[in-house]
Amino acid sequence: MRTSLAVVLAAGEGKRVKSSLPKVLHRVGGLPLIGHVATTLKESGVDRAAVVIAPGHEAVRAAVAEILPEAMFFTQAEPRGTAHAVHAARQALEQGADDVLVLYGDTPFVTSAGLERLRQALAAGAAIAVGGVHLEDPAGYGRLILEGGELVAIREERDASDAERALSFCNGGIMGLSGSAILDLLDAIDDRNDQGEFYLTDAVALARGRGLRVAAVEFSAAELLGVNDRIQLAEAERLFQESRRAAAMAAGATLIAPETVFFSHDTKIGRDVTIEPNVWLGPGVTIADGVIVRGFCHIEGASIETGAIVGPFARLRPGALIGRHVHIGDFVEIKAASIDEGAKINHLAYVGDAHVGAGANIGAGTIVCNFDGVAKHRTEIGARAFVGSNTALVAPVTVGDGAYIATGSVITEDVAPDALAIARERQVAKPGWAAERRKKR
Ligand code: UD1
Ligand code: MG
Repeated sequence: MRTSLAVVLAAGEGKRVKSSLPKVLHRVGGLPLIGHVATTLKESGVDRAAVVIAPGHEAVRAAVAEILPEAMFFTQAEPRGTAHAVHAARQALEQGADDVLVLYGDTPFVTSAGLERLRQALAAGAAIAVGGVHLEDPAGYGRLILEGGELVAIREERDASDAERALSFCNGGIMGLSGSAILDLLDAIDDRNDQGEFYLTDAVALARGRGLRVAAVEFSAAELLGVNDRIQLAEAERLFQESRRAAAMAAGATLIAPETVFFSHDTKIGRDVTIEPNVWLGPGVTIADGVIVRGFCHIEGASIETGAIVGPFARLRPGALIGRHVHIGDFVEIKAASIDEGAKINHLAYVGDAHVGAGANIGAGTIVCNFDGVAKHRTEIGARAFVGSNTALVAPVTVGDGAYIATGSVITEDVAPDALAIARERQVAKPGWAAERRKKR
């Protein structure tokens, strides 16, 4: 077995995103760009991973460590180019590996199968294997210069001649280098180019000059999309969403208007789920078999169990646990609350920091008053309880199993199981009063 080291470069300035957030922390499918790369490395089973970050970018370190706790981190003091960045991880390189895989933190869709193809080229004797892509619009990418079908150099766009710029076979941004050659090659790279940077891409011509073999391995443009600005970020999001929609449908979900349903990197969705148009699924959503999500729902951090119906126009916030066959209707917001089997909250309600028992019915306009201005408090609603419309439940409060709450109540005290609670003014009727008043006027 050949040993492997992945070096992920994430210290570049990313000027063109125009952001106070490091470029690699911009998100696609709710996950930072570099989180996608870390996830791929985790799946690919590379032996070691080294990540090069900019000084002070602790948030980048944290985003990677969450996924790859064993990753090593190195700081590149100044962004002086991709070769300079790899050099920052010299200590990891010196520990030795047969295959060194260099990935860019701004290239999120690299797959473990793709990395394996680079490793195969190295195993077959190449000192460098470059991931190449054919692009209709190659602007901004380094061009692969071939002679007699063989890769001889990579030219960065700003250093390229007009003839070279016309080439459409580009450097996709992933490279495999043989561990035995990489340190020598890095030491030989200089900064004589338009930007005065040390370009990793120069390793190709240097290797050729030393009689080493170099290979270009072709990839799809989507797999090697690099994000340098917000337009490319949106393009990455579009590709991500397209692939997730296709995967959900392939797994047996019906999306009536797939182009209007948005998934996150970790969305789990079962079979025979129907999702109507215009639904946003943020991070941490699980949807079990047979669920119907009606149009215009905003859902994040929520789990929806078999047979439940949610929406239209429902908002499920983190910690919403929607049980089997529960109905959540329009303009209902649920946060940090478990709603047990068969309960119904069909219209205009807020239920937060609460538990609603099985088969309970929560009337229209019911609000849980969970926040007293300082702290949050819990509300317990028992199984089969009936909460009349327009009730305010002032937490902390418990409504017993099978209890009944009269419409329009403000409930400040616990309600015993099977009891009726009425907490409102009695109606006063004054016959003829209105007619009297009209006469006076
Ligand atoms: C790079 C390649 C180009 C390729 C393109 C593919 C070089 C010189 N150019 O250009 O051939 O077509 O990617 O997307 O490699 N980084 C550092 N430190 C630095 C500079 C960059 O860590 O000093 C990191 C960046 O954070 C980024 C990656 O390296 O994740 C690539 O840098 P970027 O500036 O985006 O290079 P491109 O211009 O896209
Ligand atoms: Mg880039």
